[in-house]
Amino acid sequence: MSIHKPNQNITLTRLHEMKSHGEKIACLTAYDASFAAILDQAGMDVILIGDSLGMVVQGEDSTVSVTIEDMIYHSQCVSSAAKQSFVIADMPFMSYTNIDQALANATDLIQLGGAQMVKLEASIRQVSIVQELSDCGIPICAHLGLRPQYIHKLGGYAMQGKDEASANELIESAKSLQAAGADMLLLECVPEALAQKITQQSDIPVIGIGAGTHCDGQILVLHDVLGITQGTTPKFAKNFLADAVDIQSAIAKYVQDVKALAFPAA
Ligand code: KIV
Repeated sequence: MSIHKPNQNITLTRLHEMKSHGEKIACLTAYDASFAAILDQAGMDVILIGDSLGMVVQGEDSTVSVTIEDMIYHSQCVSSAAKQSFVIADMPFMSYTNIDQALANATDLIQLGGAQMVKLEASIRQVSIVQELSDCGIPICAHLGLRPQYIHKLGGYAMQGKDEASANELIESAKSLQAAGADMLLLECVPEALAQKITQQSDIPVIGIGAGTHCDGQILVLHDVLGITQGTTPKFAKNFLADAVDIQSAIAKYVQDVKALAFPAA
């Protein structure tokens, strides 16, 4: 199988160009140097050190136990191995409750962790934090839709934005966060038509997970792609190792399928 190899480091500018050229952005999570190197060599555009590490690495039931120290440690592991991919680190639960705390923690993820962007679970409520981080030169990905850090309020991992009121709220949040300086949006578990609308109205790349085919890029959790997630795997995930000879080929096939619009299936 041919491995998609970018001939340049992926930067935020390049990700924006990909959006404007309609070139799909392939993203996957990683938490350590070995897997980060495999993703990087497979031509992954973006590697996310997700706070999903609380579940897939630490064996917890949710992401809320993950600390900023955990995120810095895993970001260091990944960023040391990612030579071409763009690296995003999650801001964990309760690490961005006010502007000073958000600035200090985002700075650590960039300076100590080596990330090029931070991701935070956002709504209209986080607009001033996004504005301040952005004004200070920190690239932001705003994670909308299903926000796993709200699990104890939500009571389960269900699709968001299904009724008109909540869909409009998501559309307004996306607009406000972009206006505040967000450089990327991530939409988790929202209806395909809503994801399409938000993607069309945004000038910044919109990455989807369980959000249909129309987003500018796709992301999955590494362990779901390799079929090694314990417990329930989300319906939208796909085990690419099932039909591959080895891990490298499975990851390369994921990149290829995202780029060729073969994943996700309609
Ligand atoms: O933490 C994570 O891995 C994520 C992805 C599910 C997008 O936020």
